[in-house]
Amino acid sequence: MAVFISSSEGETFRWAEEYAKTLRPGDTVLLDGEMGAGKTVIAKGIAKGLGILQEVTSPTYAYINSYEGRLFHFDCYRIQSERQAWELGFADYFELGGICLVEWSENIAGLLPEAVKRVAVKKLGETQREIEF
Ligand SMILES: Nc1ncnc2c1ncn2[C@@H]1O[C@H](COP(=O)(O)OP(=O)(O)OP(=O)(O)O)[C@@H](O)[C@H]1O
Ligand SMILES: [Mg+2]
Repeated sequence: MAVFISSSEGETFRWAEEYAKTLRPGDTVLLDGEMGAGKTVIAKGIAKGLGILQEVTSPTYAYINSYEGRLFHFDCYRIQSERQAWELGFADYFELGGICLVEWSENIAGLLPEAVKRVAVKKLGETQREIEF
C-alpha cells in the first residue's frame, strides 16, 4: 500500500492520470472516501490517463456512465438496496472487460467482483487530501 499527499485538485487529477497506467482491462477500482473527498476528480484523471476524450461527469443521477465501452464509472450513493442495483443490471458491467470505477461501493457490496483494487481519499484540510492506494 502506498500513500500520496495531494495539495490541490490538479495534483489529485495528475496523480490519477499516472495511476491509470497501472490499470488493466477488467480491473475494478473502489473509490472510497467521504462526500467531496475527490473520488470524481480521480475518476476524471483516470479517464484522461486512459486516453478517453469525452468529458467525465458525475453519474449521480444516471448511476453509471460508460466511456467508449472501456471505462464504467459508478456512483452508488443513491442506491437503496443490492436488489435495486441487481435489477438495474449493475452486476453485468463487471463482466464487460472494461475498467470499473465505483463510488460508494458499500451500497453494492454483494455485487462486487472478488478481486478489486481500492483507492481511499481522506480530507486532511480544505485542499489537502491523503490518497491511499
Ligand atoms: N487536493 C484535492 N484533491 C481533490 N479535490 C480537491 C482537492 N482540494 C480541493 N478539492 C475539491 O474537493 C471537491 C472534490 O469533489 P468530488 O466531486 O471529486 O468529490 P467526491 O468524492 O466525488 O464526492 P461525492 O461523494 O459527493 O461524489 C472538488 O470541489 C475539488 O475542487
Ligand atoms: Mg463523486
